[in-house]
Order: sequence, then C-alpha cells, then structure tokens
Amino acid sequence: MFNKKTIKDIDVKGKKVLVRVDFNVPLKDGKVSDDTRIVAALPTINYLLEQGAAPILCSHLGRPKGDPDPEYSMKPVADYLGGLVKNKVIFSPECVGPVAAKAAAELKPGEILVLENTRFYQGETKNDPEMSKQLASLAEVFVDDAFGSAHRAHASTVGVTNYLPSVAGFLLEREIKFLDQAIENPKRPFVAILGGAKVSDKIGVIKNLLARADTVLIGGGMANTFFKAQGYPMGDSLVEDEVLDVARDLVKQGSTKLRMPVDVVIADKFDNAAQTKVINAGPVPEGWRILDIGPETVKNFSKVVSTAGTVVWNGPMGVFEMETFAKGTFEVAKAIADSKAVSIIGGGDSAAAIQQSGLADKITHISTGGGASLEMLEGIQLPGLTALLDK
Ligand code: 3PG
Repeated sequence: MFNKKTIKDIDVKGKKVLVRVDFNVPLKDGKVSDDTRIVAALPTINYLLEQGAAPILCSHLGRPKGDPDPEYSMKPVADYLGGLVKNKVIFSPECVGPVAAKAAAELKPGEILVLENTRFYQGETKNDPEMSKQLASLAEVFVDDAFGSAHRAHASTVGVTNYLPSVAGFLLEREIKFLDQAIENPKRPFVAILGGAKVSDKIGVIKNLLARADTVLIGGGMANTFFKAQGYPMGDSLVEDEVLDVARDLVKQGSTKLRMPVDVVIADKFDNAAQTKVINAGPVPEGWRILDIGPETVKNFSKVVSTAGTVVWNGPMGVFEMETFAKGTFEVAKAIADSKAVSIIGGGDSAAAIQQSGLADKITHISTGGGASLEMLEGIQLPGLTALLDK
C-alpha cells in the first residue's frame, strides 16, 4: 500500500521546491536520445508550476567518479527540458555551492532551475550530510520523483530528507502503486516473465516471484545456466558456472511454477548474419550458442500470458538488439500487449523492447526504473521511499 505523503498533501504555493528527478537519460552526440524519463517527470514539474512554486531539479547522470566531467553534464538535459515546457529553464553549472545558492535565491515562481549532476560531488554516493544540508538549503520543500534512483541511499535521495519536509512526486507514487499492487495483491493468475543474460542478477527476484506468482517463465541467456545445471552441454552459450547450484535450488523451489524454454534458436557465431537452427532445449552442439527462444516456446509462453490476470516482465528473451534473434522478445511483447492482463514492464531492456515494438500504449505500466523495479520485485524496501513522510 502507498502510505507516503505526496505533493498534494503539502503546501507548495509560492515556495522553492527541490525535486529529485531521475534524468539519467541516454545522450548521443551531446543530445538527449531517449526522453522517457524527462517526459515522465513533467506532471510533477507542471503541477508545481501551476501552484506558483519554483522547482529546483536535481539528478545524477551516468556514473562520473565524484568530480565534474563534461561528458556527464546536465546542461543538454536542461536544454531539452526547455523545449518541453513553456516556462523559463535556468541551468546552474553547480549542484551545491555559491553559484547554485545564488541561482536558487534569484529563482522566481514559474521558473525552473536545473542543477548540475549530483554525482560531480564525492558526497552524493556517500550520502554525506554536508552535501544533503547544502542541497536542502536551496529550497523549502523536497519532492522525490526519482523512482529510478529510489534504491540508492544517496545525499540527494535520502540524506536531504533529514533537513526538509519530504514528499513523493506523481511519478514515484504511480510507479510504487503499480509495482506494489502487482506484487502484493495481483489479479490472478499472476505470471512473471524473466529474461536477460544473467541469473546472478536476478536470484532474489526469482525467489520472491516463485513465492508470489502462479507461473514464472524464464527466457534469455539466463535459461542457459538452468539447462547446464540439468547436465546439458551448452556449446559456446553464455553460462554462469558459479551459480549452477543456485539454479538447481531454484528449479527445486520452483517445481511446476518455473517454466523453461522447450526450444531455442542457436547460431554458429554471435552475429546477425550467423547461420541459425531451431533445436529442442537440451544439448547444444560444440561451436554453437543459444541466442533466442524458439517458436514452440513462444507459443507456450503466449498461451500462459493470454489467460493471465497480471503479467510482470523483466528482461529480453534473446539478443533482441540483433534482428535475427529478436523474434522471441518481440513475440512475447506482442502476447503481453494482446492480453487483457494488468501488464507491468520493468525498466531497462524490456522497456526498450516494448517501445521498439510500437506496443507501448497497450501496456498498463512501463516502469522508468531498471534497478529500482528489480529491487521492488525482489521485495526489498526502497530507501528513497522509506525516507519520505508517512501519510
Ligand atoms: C538507472 O538508470 O537505473 C538509475 O538512474 C540508477 O542509476 P545507477 O545505477 O547509476 O545508480
């Protein structure tokens, strides 16, 4: 249940409001190449502007090492935001410090200030109280709308809440409500589809979902490790030998709930132009590797999805970046889009796949968080959410 105060529960009229957004967006040639996360934060930003508040936006971008690095500047993001809103957008080349303080002090209601990357400061990832205090001193209220960063206990997500009344923005509220509902109180049958390259990234997620879902479908590179755990040679397929025992335990725990591919697409090299074959799931010939799920598996998975009440999907079914191995992922995307189920797509690759397939508008909720949505699926409390005021 969502039990945190939101911007609707606090008076922001005429106030300076520090908003932690997740504007960690991809840049290409110095320009924003995917604006999903920026657009997703607009309801909160626009609400604040309508209330006569002055939003001061802060975010990290990429993983700079705690010092200014022009490659990760927020300036292109501020410029992009300027094209989306009618209001004046001012960029501060500092996140904290005298330049940021002056820009915040001079900010007028109806104007937006975008601060430089929070990770240009060592204090951010250390959740340093000094940095939190400095950030807090720029404003009178703190709004967290950065769902994608809610699993990080950093100065701009958690520390700052010690110094300002702190509430959730609309995006954070929406994300938590959808994911929480799916996990805690799903319309059944509840089907989880997990893919991606590595089992090791998702052990906790698989465990938690096996306890809560009715069926867990496994695809993508991670299925290879399960196959090898059953004793099959995997040729040149990607396998995580160090978690074979874990995979065996998961199969035991999963019993009939856990469903693996029954057939797979193999290729003689990791190349879009490779020679390919469809084989039954099992031994992979030497020199070949599994790069997608096969057509029978697509049929099986689609059938399970078609009768689901809730579907949660995280991770592609194959190397969908290459057209030759994209079919499994896009067919599963289509099955989810065609079903009447409440459908939730975890961020990252599966969100990109659903966007590319042109089916995004048929999905109930596409999360803007990669790591954050995985931690929720694992049943972990997000520190960025816990830190906010209770209702
Ligand atoms: C993300 O892209 O998942 C978030 O912005 C978090 O980024 P991080 O993994 O660098 O903390």
